[in-house]
Amino acid sequence: MPRTGPRIKSPDQLVAESGADLEGHGLKRTIGPFQLVCFGIGAIVGTGIFVGLSDTVAEAGPAVIVSFVLAALTCIFTAFSFAELGGAIPVSGSSYSYTYASLGERTAFLVGWCLLLEYGVSVSAVAIGWGQYLNELLEHTIGLRIPDAFAAAPGHGGIVNIPAVVVMLLAAVLLVRGVRESARATAAMAVIKVGILVLFCAVAFTAYQAGNLTPFAPAGIGGIGAGASLAFFSFIGFDAISTAGEEVKNPRRNIPLAILVTIGCVALIYCLVSVAALGAMPWEQVGGKPAALSLIVNHATGSAFGSTVIALGAVVAIASVVLAVMYGQTRILMSMARDGLMPKVFERVSPKTSTPVANTWIVAVVFAVPAAVVPLDVVLDMTVIGTLAVMAVVNICVIALRRSRPDLQRRFRVPLFPVAPLLGVGFSLYLMYGLPLMTWIQFAVFVAVGLVLYSVYGRRRSRLGRAEEAAADGADGSGPAHEEPADDGTPSPAVRAGQAG
Ligand code: ALA
Repeated sequence: MPRTGPRIKSPDQLVAESGADLEGHGLKRTIGPFQLVCFGIGAIVGTGIFVGLSDTVAEAGPAVIVSFVLAALTCIFTAFSFAELGGAIPVSGSSYSYTYASLGERTAFLVGWCLLLEYGVSVSAVAIGWGQYLNELLEHTIGLRIPDAFAAAPGHGGIVNIPAVVVMLLAAVLLVRGVRESARATAAMAVIKVGILVLFCAVAFTAYQAGNLTPFAPAGIGGIGAGASLAFFSFIGFDAISTAGEEVKNPRRNIPLAILVTIGCVALIYCLVSVAALGAMPWEQVGGKPAALSLIVNHATGSAFGSTVIALGAVVAIASVVLAVMYGQTRILMSMARDGLMPKVFERVSPKTSTPVANTWIVAVVFAVPAAVVPLDVVLDMTVIGTLAVMAVVNICVIALRRSRPDLQRRFRVPLFPVAPLLGVGFSLYLMYGLPLMTWIQFAVFVAVGLVLYSVYGRRRSRLGRAEEAAADGADGSGPAHEEPADDGTPSPAVRAGQAG
């Protein structure tokens, strides 16, 4: 009988099929809860707070604090959903896998496609921000800058952004060396970046004047909303924790715990940084300024030493975001390839390093191109809209999966269900609404391309689809399934589905 509903892969099948459970094929479980929180902070705290804060201030004025709270609420409601799903389906595919298990293959493909914005394009954006701070640091320490021609995109005074490309290739080198080294490096960087922000708050609070916070909302509700869309970028990345699903010890406990601890810590730090920043200096003097945190520290201390320390902190912080987000992208592509929705090359794990080497290099090289030649604001807005769309879908997934699989083992359950996930959807849509029309048009074209790719490639190559067809052929008695064996020696889709189910 022809199928009528969406192609849904059961959560048990996703876990059973994950590399961790296939002998000799899997990733090592090496990551503990502390490393995981560091990994989350590594993925989150970067360009958004160090570079983007001043643009958010320009939109919202002192009410930037409210913008950060709105962005944090969006993330917290969605983090509950990620925590429930990450604990219930601990595989590397993150929101892509959750969607496959609850809303079906086509939506999952589109979510995976949008994750190329949240992770791949985001890496490009973050790498561009890193290049700016590298130049600040070089100027403060050795009095030299990389010429604009080689440090900016065409149309923005440059030809090619070489620092952005270099940091992406360096991240790829670390990632192919193995998760243990990468996680250690990420942990060290996370501690440093939190330290720098705490130091910033300590210095800025010494110059705090309550009068700087009035008038509180010079651009009204509209300014707060536009600021929240910008502030959201600085929270992107917490869901990267769930992409490490197959390398985490005791994932059903540690993934939900790490997501909630991470988002709580980051929200608290950002709110403190905004209050400290705007209490220390009138918002008109902060809004739109480059390297605003350095500027504020200079203002508070009257010394240039502070800006060098902040520039150094930003270079470290932003590099660790590049590392963590690139890691996430490789794991999502791995999950999609495992399902037959992306080419097999993304699925291969090197037996020597236990890492997906080819996958990592492809991601680094492909997304180095926008980093080299596209302006920061374009890649930033595309990252934000793609991420918000994914978050809205993930909140819907929690509701759908509770209905379709009430029996599923859930170590963490979203509180106030279904109000919390519905609020997550509402907040995500509200922040999307604050983005420019051009971003919406670019996003619509991007999604349309994804739909076409699913029809011409993903739908036909899907392992689940081929297994179902094979099963249907068998049931019809119309002869053996016409399946090609996998060219890498792995069992055929039907065999794997049979093993899993
Ligand atoms: N949240 C990440 C950053 O701010 C993307 O760099």
